[in-house]
Amino acid sequence: MTEIIDGNAVADEIRAELSESIDALADADVTPGLATVLMSDDGASDTYVSMKQRACEEVGINGIHVEIEADAPAQELYDTIDELNDDPEVHGILVQMPVADHVDEREVINRIDPAKDVDGFHPENVGKLVAGYPRFKPCTPHGVQKLLESADVDPEGKDVVIVGRSNIVGKPLANLLIQKTDGGNATVTVCHSRTDDLAAKTREADIVVAACGVPELVDGEMLSEGTVVIDVGVNRVDADTEKGYELVGDVEFESAKGKASAITPVPGGVGPMTIAMLLYNTTKAAGLSEG
Ligand code: GUN
Repeated sequence: MTEIIDGNAVADEIRAELSESIDALADADVTPGLATVLMSDDGASDTYVSMKQRACEEVGINGIHVEIEADAPAQELYDTIDELNDDPEVHGILVQMPVADHVDEREVINRIDPAKDVDGFHPENVGKLVAGYPRFKPCTPHGVQKLLESADVDPEGKDVVIVGRSNIVGKPLANLLIQKTDGGNATVTVCHSRTDDLAAKTREADIVVAACGVPELVDGEMLSEGTVVIDVGVNRVDADTEKGYELVGDVEFESAKGKASAITPVPGGVGPMTIAMLLYNTTKAAGLSEG
């Protein structure tokens, strides 16, 4: 029987634990604050940011949302970040990526105060992660680690193949999984669009994490019996539905399920975990800022 890893259930548990930390902070008169900033016309980004804000409200984090017209000058975004950096009630800042084309994403990330960089994207935080003492573990990779733990899958000594080398998922996840700490100690291969014979790599893996943004790229034919499959992809594909699209992952679920010992669904797998770990990092930032 293939285990379907329930990301909503694991995320609920993490949120319940967080509520206790948030209550403890309240006793010290601190309410964690998360600022989300959206500068994009992308409908999916708008949905993600709304979900993040709603999740804040549910756990007692103070949510602040700033929306900037996608065609506004980049300086408007930089000024917004400067103000949020200076605001003592804001402990975490998240600028939803991708930002509008004319804005330099690197400049945006560099501008965020590293102590408020709850995404863990700032080079200072990337450096700390790679060096083995992360300040904030990036949300999606941390969520993947928690999902593995929930399914009693210890990466130690396992061969993990990550499909995708993004700064948001592939690279930080590879770093987390090779750390000499619980939830790490794996042997990691990072594959990408220039990898020769991807299927040969995925068939050798104990754990496959698909995070490449290609709808249903990984199918059952590419997996060995008993593989643990984590699907990070969320792709909108045209479909005859009310909205005109449906969501699919980077894994072809049905055929992969036929081979996997455990697999995450889309939706309801990694997605809720990304949000839960964002709430976790924001709470941590609020605790750290109080010394
Ligand atoms: N775009 C897609 N995923 C993320 C994320 O985790 N953080 C931010 N800031 N933007 C994203």
